[in-house]
Amino acid sequence: MSRIVATGSYLPEKILTNKELIERTGIDSSDEWITQRTGIHQRHFALGHETVSDLAIQAAKDLLKQMDAEIVQEIQLILVATMSSRLPTPSVASQVQRGLGIEQALAFDISGACSGFIMALEVAEKLTREQSSGYTLMIGAEKMSEILNFEDRGTSILFGDGAGAVLIKHDGEGLKNYQSELISLPDPKDSIHVPAEENPKGQMSMDGREVFNFVLRQVIPSLSNFIQDYAKDFDYLISHQANYRFIEILAKKLKVSLDKIPANIDKMANTSAGSIPILLDQMVKEERIFLNSTQEVVLVGYGAGLAWGQIRLTI
Ligand code: COA
Repeated sequence: MSRIVATGSYLPEKILTNKELIERTGIDSSDEWITQRTGIHQRHFALGHETVSDLAIQAAKDLLKQMDAEIVQEIQLILVATMSSRLPTPSVASQVQRGLGIEQALAFDISGACSGFIMALEVAEKLTREQSSGYTLMIGAEKMSEILNFEDRGTSILFGDGAGAVLIKHDGEGLKNYQSELISLPDPKDSIHVPAEENPKGQMSMDGREVFNFVLRQVIPSLSNFIQDYAKDFDYLISHQANYRFIEILAKKLKVSLDKIPANIDKMANTSAGSIPILLDQMVKEERIFLNSTQEVVLVGYGAGLAWGQIRLTI
């Protein structure tokens, strides 16, 4: 069976509390409003010169320091999920390949916004199911601060920067007990978009209420059915971190304790494609999730598209 053998993450050093963000941007908001409506207390922001690929490389290095140095040359596939790279080409994955000195690998990006990491994992699983050796390096990395409109209080409070990484070792079969469901719906309203033409700075705009309703009406019922069908006794649900209210609603709907749906949105806000691998790495480091164990984990990502996806695996 292929297995996840290591995880890693990187969060930029600079932290901005809600109060500091409000002071710096001058938006009409309050720490109380942000905390109550989203559960967010602070976020990490990268420095001006740091790029998405810098964050991705740091996350990969955090992961690779746990492995023998030689395995770097056995990485055959590098997938990076991101929506915030300013460089159309080379891909972030290609820059990671160069940055880590990986001589030969297939490297490309997946643009799936907050579902990006789930899409990348699905692509990795489908591409490598027959692969009997080697590794896949998967990264979710975002510098959301680069595409935020700091005059828009509805979006600027919600996002942060960061990257998470996962290394899969291949052994001739796919990931253990892998089951997935990924769905994209047409969104005539472009509820989350970065409209480059009207907006040369490439800042994101979002209809928060519309996205909130999408999560309530589409994602949560679909996830609930998926769990009923495939993962009734899951150990942990590693959910995308968009709003703490979604975590509470999920716990109620699934009738499970909040311990089973860990959250770190209070400390890092929504890091889009980074959120799932960052939280997974945190769970591994806290020794709540044990790699190569019998724990059953469900991953769920959702957002722009509108798209979402859920995956169950034995970790
Ligand atoms: N501070 C203070 N007030 C704010 C605010 C802020 N940062 N942002 C919005 N408001 C105001 C609105 O302007 C509105 O004012 P009005 O009633 O005078 O028009 C009021 O708060 C309520 O707005 P509403 O959008 O109904 O609030 P909400 O409870 O839905 O919370 C979000 C707003 C954005 C936090 C919530 O809709 C959300 O989390 N949506 C999902 C967004 C998301 O996760 N996107 C990424 C997808 S992965």
